[in-house]
Amino acid sequence: MNSGIPRIDGKGDRTWPIRVFATLDSTNEAAKEAALGGDFGPCWYRAETQTSGRGRQGRSWASPPGNLYASALFSIHDGHDAVLSIPFVAALAVAETTERLVPGSEPKLKWPNDVRLSGRKISGILAETGACAGTIWVVVGIGINVTNVPDGIDQAATSVASERGDGLIDAAAAMEVLAARFAERLSEARAGFSAIRSAWLERADGLGGSIRVRAGQGDQYETGVFEDMAEDGSLILRLPDGSRRPIRAGDVELVRRA
Ligand code: BTN
Repeated sequence: MNSGIPRIDGKGDRTWPIRVFATLDSTNEAAKEAALGGDFGPCWYRAETQTSGRGRQGRSWASPPGNLYASALFSIHDGHDAVLSIPFVAALAVAETTERLVPGSEPKLKWPNDVRLSGRKISGILAETGACAGTIWVVVGIGINVTNVPDGIDQAATSVASERGDGLIDAAAAMEVLAARFAERLSEARAGFSAIRSAWLERADGLGGSIRVRAGQGDQYETGVFEDMAEDGSLILRLPDGSRRPIRAGDVELVRRA
């Protein structure tokens, strides 16, 4: 019977097994391969380095040693709400991890799921889902700059080490905090998107301000006011003509006032 509350395997477990590798092409790929082979975890894949780390929108994710590269693998039954909440669950878990690793910091969330400190990106999240033999599997890949900011990043970025001013935190320690925060937020998502949405909005970067959104793959941007996040996770953009446009997927740039 579908009670309306999604069943998430591994629910409430504070620590799923963490499968650690020296090198993988991509922790998302390794987790997806497992899912396609019928292994849905729940577990984490973590690599010390990745040779083909992947980012959103077909971009690559530079993965030198020192930073955290991890993917959660689990399955979901009966709950499409839970699927939509996953990227936001991950973003909240990363923000809370960052807050613990960098005491006194105030991580902000840039829609849909970048985590930033003082306007500089510290983490990226790539969530992927699929179905196999009637089971919905989910892979949530998370990269956190722990000891360094990789070269060649196309935007302002920072790391745990530079924000703390020391190198006392390593990727393994960051993983433990992240796994606990993720388990907690995922368990909360079982009751629906509402609490996750509210917590996300409290940390939203640029809410109420001007933003530029690139909704497709091209160079077409739309400018408007970031008015809200809808119940389905869409960003609500208020256009200059007064209309409200829901954005399901895209890249956002905050427009700073001169
Ligand atoms: C982004 O573009 O901001 C998302 C980056 C996601 C990177 C992480 S690192 C661990 C996991 N494995 C990958 O190949 N990508 C994700």
